[in-house]
Amino acid sequence: MYSSNEQSQPRKPVTVATMAKMKREAEKIAMLTAYDASFAALCDMAAVDIILVGDSLGMVMQGQDSTIPVTVDEMVYHTKCVCSRAGDSFVIADMPFMSYNTAEDAAWTAARLMKEGGAQMVKLEGGEGQIEKVEFLTSQGVPVCGHLGLLPQSVHKLGGYKVQGREDAQAQVIINEAKMLEDAGADILVIECVPAELAKSVTDSVSIPVVGIGAGVDCDGQVLVLQDMLGITPGKRPKFSRNFMEYASSIGEAISNYVQAVKGREFPAPEHNV
Ligand code: KIV
Repeated sequence: MYSSNEQSQPRKPVTVATMAKMKREAEKIAMLTAYDASFAALCDMAAVDIILVGDSLGMVMQGQDSTIPVTVDEMVYHTKCVCSRAGDSFVIADMPFMSYNTAEDAAWTAARLMKEGGAQMVKLEGGEGQIEKVEFLTSQGVPVCGHLGLLPQSVHKLGGYKVQGREDAQAQVIINEAKMLEDAGADILVIECVPAELAKSVTDSVSIPVVGIGAGVDCDGQVLVLQDMLGITPGKRPKFSRNFMEYASSIGEAISNYVQAVKGREFPAPEHNV
């Protein structure tokens, strides 16, 4: 199943317009995190649509308990590493905790991630409280990815990494916030750890692509933490992830199998629902 760019037709660079077209044409978006040049190159070769330089690097790269300690300097460094070898994959960089408290802060952080790191889009967590910042960023030509559901930067406020949106009222807030982010100019949304039915409602409620993690198969795309799907995260693998190394003879093949499984709606399966 493994097919790299070296073996097949060169693909076109993925852009914001590509993502919008994929949603319109019901082609699933395959997103993965990466934090360095070597893995970025493997993602590009396996035709991953979007590479997310997630602040999950706090856990994955630094061995921290959460994403909270991650700094803008660290995000810029890893974004630069990824962008050096991302090829035709589109690169989104996370704005870390407390780096976008005001529209001005958000603009400075986005400027660093894009100018120094080379990111093509920035991601921020939260809904209603972020609208003003999303409006400002998009008015300045900064592409924005929203992030709803489980917000890892708010882990201490949420009382742990818990499924969000189980209650009707909370689910409605998430749907409303997705629409608000779209209206504010966000180009794409990540939705994390919510019931599959809620993720489907969110996906159907907005015209921008919705990429899920622990959110069922009906989102417009899927994202996983690379080390989780390679089965090398210490401890228990999250329920919503799958070890793609199980039937692969190389990391490249595992990543390619992930892309095919997302595109073919084989991943996530019902057992991955939270
Ligand atoms: O930081 C990250 O890797 C993320 C994904 C889990 C979506 O935000």
